[in-house]
Amino acid sequence: MEIVKMEYSDLLQIQSTLQTDFDDFWNFNIFVSEIQNPNSNYFVAKLENQEIVGFAGVWNDGFDMHITNIVTRKDKRHIGIASNLLEKLINFSKEKKSNSLTLEVNEKNIPAINLYEKYKFKKIGVRKHYYSQNENAIIMTLYF
Ligand SMILES: CC(C)(COP(=O)(O)OP(=O)(O)OC[C@H]1O[C@@H](n2cnc3c(N)ncnc32)[C@H](O)[C@@H]1OP(=O)(O)O)[C@@H](O)C(=O)NCCC(=O)NCCS
Repeated sequence: MEIVKMEYSDLLQIQSTLQTDFDDFWNFNIFVSEIQNPNSNYFVAKLENQEIVGFAGVWNDGFDMHITNIVTRKDKRHIGIASNLLEKLINFSKEKKSNSLTLEVNEKNIPAINLYEKYKFKKIGVRKHYYSQNENAIIMTLYF
């Protein structure tokens, strides 16, 4: 598996399966605009046969990096793909001399919280009612 920059052709490959196979909350059009945003950077996890099995992105506010999403294809979860993607985001943020890497995660999303804790992200706050159904977001940050 390799982690490479997301290209428009990658989006075409996953366009029809974004919601079903990745359960991502973003649609194709948001991604198209995001890969053209100079402050954003997106990566895909590709198998040797070029099949995309995950993706992740960061947005740079000038000082700090923010994880906008990180998703593994449903049939390939818990075999290390998000870990590889997250390592890429961490290394990329360090290369860009960012002070920190931050994200919001639903307080009920145990797999994601475990993933971030595995990489030493710390819980630094809560955003109340951030998601639908009044669910709270935990803010987690990794300082460099
Ligand atoms: C969260 C998510 C990205 C993890 O992806 P993944 O490729 O399965 O993660 P990995 O295989 O790299 O696992 C890394 C760590 O995450 C945690 N983890 C992953 N799946 C888990 C599960 N089902 N239950 C508990 N912890 C889990 C573990 O700590 C794991 O480390 P371990 O293998 O040493 O146990 C994936 O479940 C997903 O795509 N979820 C839907 C989208 C989402 O919620 N994204 C996060 C938004 S903030």
